Amino acid sequence: MNAFPLPAREPNGLTLLDPFCCQGGSAMGWYLAGFDVTGVDTAPQPRYPFTFIQGDAIEYIRAHGHEYDLTAGSPPCQAHSLCQRIQGRTHPRLIGPAREAMQSTGRPWIIENVPEAAPELRDPITLCGASFGLHTYRHRLFEASFPLTAPEHPQHTRRTVKMGRPLKPGDWYHAVGNFSNVPYVKADMSVPWMTRDGIRECIPPAYTRYLGAQAAVFLLQPTEATA
Ligand SMILES: C[S@@+](CC[C@H](N)C(=O)[O-])C[C@H]1O[C@@H](n2cnc3c(N)ncnc32)[C@H](O)[C@@H]1O
Repeated sequence: MNAFPLPAREPNGLTLLDPFCCQGGSAMGWYLAGFDVTGVDTAPQPRYPFTFIQGDAIEYIRAHGHEYDLTAGSPPCQAHSLCQRIQGRTHPRLIGPAREAMQSTGRPWIIENVPEAAPELRDPITLCGASFGLHTYRHRLFEASFPLTAPEHPQHTRRTVKMGRPLKPGDWYHAVGNFSNVPYVKADMSVPWMTRDGIRECIPPAYTRYLGAQAAVFLLQPTEATA
């Protein structure tokens, strides 16, 4: 856990497992929605702002996922990303194994990924940065074991600065590769604790904060046993 001062929020009493957590973009949104978050990643993540466990996410979900109210994670997306395919790199495809592990917990779950992974995802919703006041479209897909809805998707009317070109405040951007003006992108996505490497990989916290509110309503609804 790093020394980044956490913003205030209202806890909802629920716990969330964040497998494949990286530097914690999605984690921050879940936290702001009220969840107490634990992240798992094979790589050390000294910038991760919450409780962190270094290890294999699939093994951890299988062993401990049932201890959390919700498991929500982003299996690595490089197997699907366009630039990795162009460069001929291969990476393990972890969406299927992650889904099976999450299903084995008997608890609700969410899998996030990039648009190129759509064929592997079942009935996902798509979130877009323009719905959240960001200066990036950054589509991300979310498959869930329970109903989720997306906000209205605004038309893409803004020209986005090409990768590698200088970026000035107010520009629309793609936070991929060696994108420029990291301070501007950090501020726009509200990820001040991250490096460029973390931002490149991250889900904007606004997306998971939005989904976290829906997940909390679903998880906190009275069951037949408690009604
Ligand atoms: C796309 S990033 C996650 C981004 C994160 N959700 C965010 O919003 O910042 C994927 C992460 O999965 C990690 N990873 C890859 N294989 C893993 C495995 N088998 N177990 C745990 N973490 C893994 C990588 O180290 C990387 O940090």
